[in-house]
Amino acid sequence: MERRFDPPFGEAENAALFRLLISTAVDGIMVIDGRGTVRLFNNACERLFGYEPGEVLGRNVSMLMPAPYREEHDGYLEAYRTTGIRKIIGIGREVTARRKDGSIFPIYLSVGEGVFEDEPVFVGIVHDMSERHAALKQLQELQAELIHVSRLNEMGHMSSAFAHELNQPLAAIVNYLRAAQRTVASVEDETVIRAREMMDKAAEQASRAGQIIKRLREFTEKRDTSRAEESLNRIVEEAIALALVGSAPMNMKVEKNLAADLPGISMDRIQIQQVVLNLVRNAVEAMEDAPVRHLTVTTRLTGEGDVLASFRDTGPGLSEEVVRRLFEPFVTTKENGMGIGLSICRSIMEAHGGRLWMTPAPEGGAEFHFTLPATAPRD
Ligand SMILES: Nc1ncnc2c1ncn2[C@@H]1O[C@H](COP(=O)(O)OP(=O)(O)OP(=O)(O)O)[C@@H](O)[C@H]1O
Ligand SMILES: [Mg+2]
Repeated sequence: MERRFDPPFGEAENAALFRLLISTAVDGIMVIDGRGTVRLFNNACERLFGYEPGEVLGRNVSMLMPAPYREEHDGYLEAYRTTGIRKIIGIGREVTARRKDGSIFPIYLSVGEGVFEDEPVFVGIVHDMSERHAALKQLQELQAELIHVSRLNEMGHMSSAFAHELNQPLAAIVNYLRAAQRTVASVEDETVIRAREMMDKAAEQASRAGQIIKRLREFTEKRDTSRAEESLNRIVEEAIALALVGSAPMNMKVEKNLAADLPGISMDRIQIQQVVLNLVRNAVEAMEDAPVRHLTVTTRLTGEGDVLASFRDTGPGLSEEVVRRLFEPFVTTKENGMGIGLSICRSIMEAHGGRLWMTPAPEGGAEFHFTLPATAPRD
């Protein structure tokens, strides 16, 4: 038979209800008196702290705190008694707690104040934050890893570009040395012979530098890419989440309009994630000092059957000068920028048979777009 807990209750019912509340609460509930002595320690507290009630009841609550709060707590209570200044009473905040085994864990502790049998008492509600902390930490690690991977990849592209640039002058050095040797080949002068030997050595070293660069290029260019059918929306969602870790204080609004009817696309997941990560990071960086911070991410199917993703921000937009060279490497307006993000993005999109471009956003910011062909290009 169903029983409804409508007041008013008799004394016995009240007591039973109170016990029910205390014993079934998922959060820890404890009561301490004005001297810090624990008067009530519920089942959830036993589970959270690893103590039996008998080990805690009648003792000072500071045993549940790690140093240095452990030593300072009596002082807080005393200060509150004499000055009325509240640190946590009447509100709540995140603090650390200590289990019986000595391990320390994060909790959200809220403390209410009351009077019981003419004595002041404090009611603490303890909410375990360990899991949330662990999830956040995992996300941060994942982000750091992805940024690391993308930086490595950027280094690869960069060294490949360097190698390409350096090859020409090195070849020219070798050619000039050879020509110089031929010019003086028939001169039997002692000094010229010595100079010829030195030119030999110089040419040798120049070819060696060329070899090193050649190997570097082979190494960075031959890295496998792995293509698989992926959902662009999922990759976009994940990369946005990763890119935004740590930007919560910026108070940015993120609007996602992701089309539900997108076909699966053959792509290198990590690379496309890097493109999204770079675009979102650029947008976040551009909006750092903007009065309005609004990122709009859209995915949709185009008339040609390609999949299109757009990232619109409310930053300051781009100057004509930057636009002209936007996708070239080493173009940056940032103090710590490498200016390589967008050039990598473009080469990734081109390797996928797609495109990457920028249009000014109507509100003055920038909007970056990329497309991926629904049918994969043949390698
Ligand atoms: N959303 C945007 N709003 C305004 N300017 C942008 C935006 N995205 C890129 N830019 C401009 O284009 C430049 C090049 O961007 P790119 O990502 O290639 O390099 P970066 O962000 O400067 O450095 P990094 O190599 O760390 O990515 C930036 O320095 C910036 O001036
Ligand atoms: Mg960038």
